[in-house]
Amino acid sequence: MQKLLRQVALIGTLLASAISAAQTTNTPQVVVETGCQDKCGNVSIPYPFGTTKECYHDPDFLITCNDTDYNPPQPFLRKSNIEVTDISVDGKLYINQSIAKACYNESGAPLNRSNHYLSLAQFFISDTENKFIGVGCDTRAVISGFQGKNYQYTGGCLTICNGTEYVENYTCSGIGCCQTPIAKGMTYFDIEVKSYNNQTEVWDFNPCSYAFVVQEGKFNFTSDMLKDLRSVEQLPVVLDWSIGNKSCSNVVENNACQGNSACSDFENGLGYRCKCNDGYEGNPYLGCHGTYIYISLTKP
Ligand SMILES: *[C@@H]1O[C@H](CO)[C@@H](O)[C@H](O)[C@H]1NC(C)=O
Ligand SMILES: *[C@@H]1O[C@H](CO)[C@@H](O)[C@H](O)[C@H]1NC(C)=O
Ligand SMILES: *[C@@H]1O[C@H](CO)[C@@H](O)[C@H](O)[C@H]1NC(C)=O
Ligand SMILES: *[C@@H]1O[C@H](CO)[C@@H](O)[C@H](O)[C@H]1NC(C)=O
Ligand SMILES: *[C@@H]1O[C@H](CO)[C@@H](O)[C@H](O)[C@H]1NC(C)=O
Ligand SMILES: *[C@@H]1O[C@H](CO)[C@@H](O)[C@H](O)[C@H]1NC(C)=O
Ligand SMILES: *[C@@H]1O[C@H](CO)[C@@H](O)[C@H](O)[C@H]1NC(C)=O
Ligand SMILES: *[C@@H]1O[C@H](CO)[C@@H](O)[C@H](O)[C@H]1NC(C)=O
Ligand SMILES: *[C@@H]1O[C@H](CO)[C@@H](O)[C@H](O)[C@H]1NC(C)=O
Ligand SMILES: *[C@@H]1O[C@H](CO)[C@@H](O)[C@H](O)[C@H]1NC(C)=O
Repeated sequence: MQKLLRQVALIGTLLASAISAAQTTNTPQVVVETGCQDKCGNVSIPYPFGTTKECYHDPDFLITCNDTDYNPPQPFLRKSNIEVTDISVDGKLYINQSIAKACYNESGAPLNRSNHYLSLAQFFISDTENKFIGVGCDTRAVISGFQGKNYQYTGGCLTICNGTEYVENYTCSGIGCCQTPIAKGMTYFDIEVKSYNNQTEVWDFNPCSYAFVVQEGKFNFTSDMLKDLRSVEQLPVVLDWSIGNKSCSNVVENNACQGNSACSDFENGLGYRCKCNDGYEGNPYLGCHGTYIYISLTKP
């Protein structure tokens, strides 16, 4: 009995290593022939996104691939200038956004000033994966957000300092750099950056004020940025996407989610999402496939 058990165990280990080898070298894959453009430059375009009417779920998911002016080709969200850098089927869309800045000359006359807004029909700015940040030593960073078309809120932070000696690197805790979370359910924001004294008191080490929304962990503040963040034009932002306006319990469409997947309610706004069932992977909007190979051992 002992011996038999050990043999079974041994066979088990051999099988397990054979299976794991098979899985890493030859993962079972479901290839769905759609005839749709599945890449734009380096960015994959999974359904429900698509570059043509036949390929996307609805016009919210239109990706415009610009291959005439960009090499590699650059995808944009719908017909906007919002640069898409990655799309995941678990409901995230990664984009690049410019930063708002206000610069002054030595005597306090305004130089370049650019505020910034982002307007999204349907998609939402991820409240869990982004932060709003202000950088400067004479800086008031203001974000105005709209939840849908109805509710507006204004938030923000300020940072005022006399010199760089108390500015701590690698943290954004109020001296030279301040941050606040983003509210849920925002489809629009407007960023404005201002200074109290036209940067005149701090000009020699901090001629500009900056403000931006950025993906958490993607901005690592250091004191030299007070002197110069002008070279940073774009920073990554994460959007949440979902389909339509209805939650799972109200989705009447048949087969809202495809094989081996289930409808999943969305926490940052309206609409529904699909999620592969446990043990399955792939694109739940097309159908998920198994990740395990099941082998039944019959008793000798
Ligand atoms: C595109 O992907 C290739 C291979 O992964 C990489 O070498 C290249 O730098 C990428 N280009 C851009 C613009 O990200
Ligand atoms: C590509 O981008 C350029 C420059 O932004 C623009 O003028 C052109 O219309 C775009 N082409 C397409 C097909 O969107
Ligand atoms: C700042 O700009 C104002 C207006 O353009 C100009 O009159 C002033 O001379 C400038 N000061 C310096 C120090 O460049
Ligand atoms: C500094 O800002 C104040 C108010 O914002 C403005 O009235 C003043 O003209 C500015 N100073 C300069 C030198 O531009
Ligand atoms: C102001 O903007 C112009 C054009 O966008 C740019 O060439 C210049 O370097 C900017 N100046 C500052 C101080 O950022
Ligand atoms: C910092 O600024 C305040 C207000 O302008 C001033 O009273 C104080 O002396 C300054 N401290 C230093 C160390 O410069
Ligand atoms: C910021 O940069 C420092 C030095 O490179 C590094 O030790 C730290 O882990 C970074 N922090 C983040 C949040 O990336
Ligand atoms: C913070 O980082 C900047 C740039 O890397 C460096 O010049 C400065 O000395 C650092 N400050 C401290 C307190 O370590
Ligand atoms: C997006 O921004 C990051 C960080 O600034 C930059 O490295 C990357 O090249 C940008 N991507 C595109 C497509 O512009
Ligand atoms: C969501 O609802 C609004 C009105 O409440 C409607 O205008 C819009 O077309 C709907 N969007 C989708 C994708 O159904």
